[in-house]
Amino acid sequence: MIFILTGAGISRESGIDTFRDKGGLWEKVRVDDVATLRGFRKDPKRVYEFYDMRRRELASGKILPNPAHLALARLEQSGREVFLVTQNVDDLHERAGSRNVVHMHGELLKALCSLCGASSRWEGDLGGGDACPACGRSGGLRPDVVWFGEMPYRMDEIEFACSRADVFVSIGTSGAVYPAAGLVRIAKAHGASSLEINLEPSLTAGSFDGGRYGPASRTVPEWVEQLACKIM
Ligand code: OAD
Repeated sequence: MIFILTGAGISRESGIDTFRDKGGLWEKVRVDDVATLRGFRKDPKRVYEFYDMRRRELASGKILPNPAHLALARLEQSGREVFLVTQNVDDLHERAGSRNVVHMHGELLKALCSLCGASSRWEGDLGGGDACPACGRSGGLRPDVVWFGEMPYRMDEIEFACSRADVFVSIGTSGAVYPAAGLVRIAKAHGASSLEINLEPSLTAGSFDGGRYGPASRTVPEWVEQLACKIM
């Protein structure tokens, strides 16, 4: 089984900012303000607006899957067993045709109700007064995005898949955020070979058996094509 972990770098060439590159999102806004529960409680309007802006950008029609997303969808469709985990909150893997995508950091196009716990599809702007589509109550909705200090989604399933992987591939992630950055070690401890595909060596590059460096729109399709010929 091929375990694939993707991060913001895979969506960069689709026009979505990464977080930690020069000019990235965390240079424009403070993590504490927009990506923590504390920040949300302090200034919910600001947090709603930050995610509204990103949701609108995603729906603008200008953001499209790039050749890297498309190549991963082809890999899944080729019949190989693929477990695709993304840290990204965009829907570009799905739009490229990937069927089984685990969004460990949540999804921009969903709202989470803190009153009933339901996660509902949400495409428009989101505000404190909106009613939850599941329970009908107002006042509990927030973006269904995992914030710092919160547990990423589906970790048991993700770690189990890591332990079963023959190959672990990390694409477009800086390796700065745990637990995602530690998954390669779990896979390796269970015998997987590992490959990093990134613009440049990441913070955790030393944990991988090999690396392929350059823009994802080139390196990912190349890797997928070579895999089809059984070369790694
Ligand atoms: P980062 O912004 O930390 O890292 C993006 C990585 O992508 C960097 O290593 C870049 O070198 C690389 N990169 C940039 N352009 C690329 C390209 N065209 N092709 C290939 N690689 C490219 O983003 P993540 O690692 O995804 O969490 O960040 C992890 C988490 O931190 C995010 O999910 C988010 C953030 O805070 C939450 O919001 C909870």
